[in-house]
Amino acid sequence: MKARAFILSIAVAAAGAAGCGKDAPPAEKKMIIGMSQCNLGEPWRVQMNADVKNAAAKYPGVEVVFKDAQNDTLKQRAQVEEFINSGVNLLIVSPKEAAPLTPPIAEAYKKGIPVIVLDRRVLGDDYTMFIGADNKRIGQAAGKWIVDRLGGKGSVVELKGLMTSTPGQDRNSGFRQGIKGSGLKIIFEADMKWLEPDARKEMESALAVHSKIDLVYAHNDPGAHGAYLAAKAAGREKNIMFVGIDGLPQEGQAYVKQGLLAASFEYPTGGKEAVDNAVRILNGEKGLPKELTLDSRVFTRENVDKGGEWLK
Ligand code: FRU
Repeated sequence: MKARAFILSIAVAAAGAAGCGKDAPPAEKKMIIGMSQCNLGEPWRVQMNADVKNAAAKYPGVEVVFKDAQNDTLKQRAQVEEFINSGVNLLIVSPKEAAPLTPPIAEAYKKGIPVIVLDRRVLGDDYTMFIGADNKRIGQAAGKWIVDRLGGKGSVVELKGLMTSTPGQDRNSGFRQGIKGSGLKIIFEADMKWLEPDARKEMESALAVHSKIDLVYAHNDPGAHGAYLAAKAAGREKNIMFVGIDGLPQEGQAYVKQGLLAASFEYPTGGKEAVDNAVRILNGEKGLPKELTLDSRVFTRENVDKGGEWLK
């Protein structure tokens, strides 16, 4: 029933948009998707919301309501609760941290509100679908690329993403697998919580205690850029390579083109895929996967102008 009503509402809204005249039946209520974004402080999250907005524009029967938790876990929990109480038809959540966001997402799911978890995971499986790239695979590919680039040995700084979020954990464990058996040494590691200013500060500490650093592996491009700025301020940026993750055209890819980063690994936002699958779920489509894994590319000086190279 619900599914049929939704298909109908799309048809009616489309007819309205086509200008069917004043005799057209009144448009049915739109399906509301609540989008809970953990913060809008980084270009990558601004891009994710833009991808969601652009994808939703193709479905006249759908309206997306955005909430920004401003990198505050308690605020994001409260905002998910608000969405549940306001009776949204479906939720898309990109959670800040796994454990604290698990209960409100499970509550929504158990109350029959479909939930798409996007990019960072929650614990357990009380949600409808998870969409994101494989962070372990990206971390491992970064590790292998770095081993190769450094000729099998060297001193590396690892600036980690928030370690209570799953991409931070997976980009760390995947990387460690990727460098296993090589002569690479992690001489300094710190949690920069995905934030450029924190990465810069941590890199200042690393520079103060280590006279030789060959490469910085940062879990995102803002982190790699923060480390680059710290090294530049110390006059050491030319002796160090910087590798990041996200690979946005306007951020990571641009840094690679400018020669600031040696490589950036793509982390697709999944915004479009989330909306397309939200519509499938709302239409009652059966047999949808519980998990959708997105592919990523690596961008380097050599391949960035040709669109990067897909990870194997
Ligand atoms: C943005 C961000 C990205 C990163 C992603 C991981 O908040 O830190 O840079 O790839 O989150 O969830």
